[in-house]
Amino acid sequence: MTVTIVGAQLGDEGKGGMADRWSESASVVCRYQGGDNAGHTVVHDGEEYKLSLVPSGAIRGKVNVLGNGCVVNPDTLFEELDALRERGIDPDVRVARRAHVILPYHRVLDGIEEDVKSESDFDVATTGRGIGPTYEDKAGRRGIRVGDLLDAEVLRERLEYVVPQKRALAEEVFGVETGEAFDIDALYDQYAAFGERLASEDMTVDAGTFLADRIDDGEEILFEGAQGTILDIDHGNYPYVTSSNPTAGGAATGTGLGPGIVGDGEIVGILKAYLSRVGTGPLPTELGGVVGQTPDYEEDTERGDEGLAEDIREAGGEYGTVTGRPRRIGWLDMPMLRHATRANGFTGLVVNHIDTLAGLDTVQVGHSYALDGKELFTLPATTERWTDCEATLESFDGWADADWDTVADEGYDALPENARTYLEYISGELDTSIYAVGIGPGREQTVVREDPFA
Ligand code: IMP
Repeated sequence: MTVTIVGAQLGDEGKGGMADRWSESASVVCRYQGGDNAGHTVVHDGEEYKLSLVPSGAIRGKVNVLGNGCVVNPDTLFEELDALRERGIDPDVRVARRAHVILPYHRVLDGIEEDVKSESDFDVATTGRGIGPTYEDKAGRRGIRVGDLLDAEVLRERLEYVVPQKRALAEEVFGVETGEAFDIDALYDQYAAFGERLASEDMTVDAGTFLADRIDDGEEILFEGAQGTILDIDHGNYPYVTSSNPTAGGAATGTGLGPGIVGDGEIVGILKAYLSRVGTGPLPTELGGVVGQTPDYEEDTERGDEGLAEDIREAGGEYGTVTGRPRRIGWLDMPMLRHATRANGFTGLVVNHIDTLAGLDTVQVGHSYALDGKELFTLPATTERWTDCEATLESFDGWADADWDTVADEGYDALPENARTYLEYISGELDTSIYAVGIGPGREQTVVREDPFA
């Protein structure tokens, strides 16, 4: 069977920790979208591992697959693999030959476009990893795929077609000087060498066939989504999104398995007990703001709840794994979660960071939105209409800090009663069971009620 782990919010929900935990029952961990824009933190044997591309199962000795829906920067891939090897881990990572390759010019163009967009406040605050430009080339049928790196002649042909276009775009449209990142010979040498290494380590696969064979053999597969539903290019708040499909449908198109296989398994939505966001775009339940990310929030803006946002940010360690930027903070947003539950078909939920909110007198939730005098229970389809929404808040009594290790040992009923009331509200509103509750960053600091592989 398969278990698909999907971010229900805006990324950084703690998917890595759950993927790590549940990968124990799986033999294969597969990413189906995104690239080295992900920030998965895994704590194992007291050691912290931060991965941006390699699936979390690498730490646990699983077979790991980067599916065809991923965009792969070979530089990052080998850097992460070498770093893991230096720490005594021997990761087994396979890469889909149909996956697209991030080249240095994609990163440069990502930066240029963000700069240009920022002049009209359209910047997305991307991770700068070249994700959008690579997916653009994929859709434009001018991309370079992992399989192309294995054939030097094909690689050369593709570079000779695409690089002059990219150079012209940078120089003539954006007026930026180009360097090595746009030099065909330099790119050819570097990427042909990556191809040789991929081939010599026998790392490339036809992902669909590889995974289907594993399923036929009765093996369990964990699909590890990156980013989150509201960053999905189709179901998120466009244009403040990433360029792939983190939602569960992506696990089919991004791997080469049929949707029936994904749908036959479990689809677990991971959420935080509050909200965080890296980047711009509306956030109706936002507390305070972050200059450069929160729309219309300047150095001297005071909304009155900055202190609360700061406390949650500090308690939850809400700084970008990839970029180190402070994340925007808000109360839980139920319209967002109703939208995510429908778009993904969640069969279960994990609510993380219940411990982070401990100590607050009152915990609030955006239960619905008010828009044009009407009450809305899910998201409007356009970002502009979402910006116009005002959150209608509901209040819950807070819970005190607890001995979370004891709670982890004793299970769900040992959670503070008010925290359970809060969790039951979430589960009831989304009509979905809570499979686990995160009460700390460590692997053992999770109250598991149901193992989706069991
Ligand atoms: P990109 O994926 O680098 O193109 O960035 C697009 C948007 O997605 C930006 O707002 C990023 O901050 C956001 N984003 C991308 N990856 C992550 C992630 O792993 N966690 C949270 N936000 C992300």
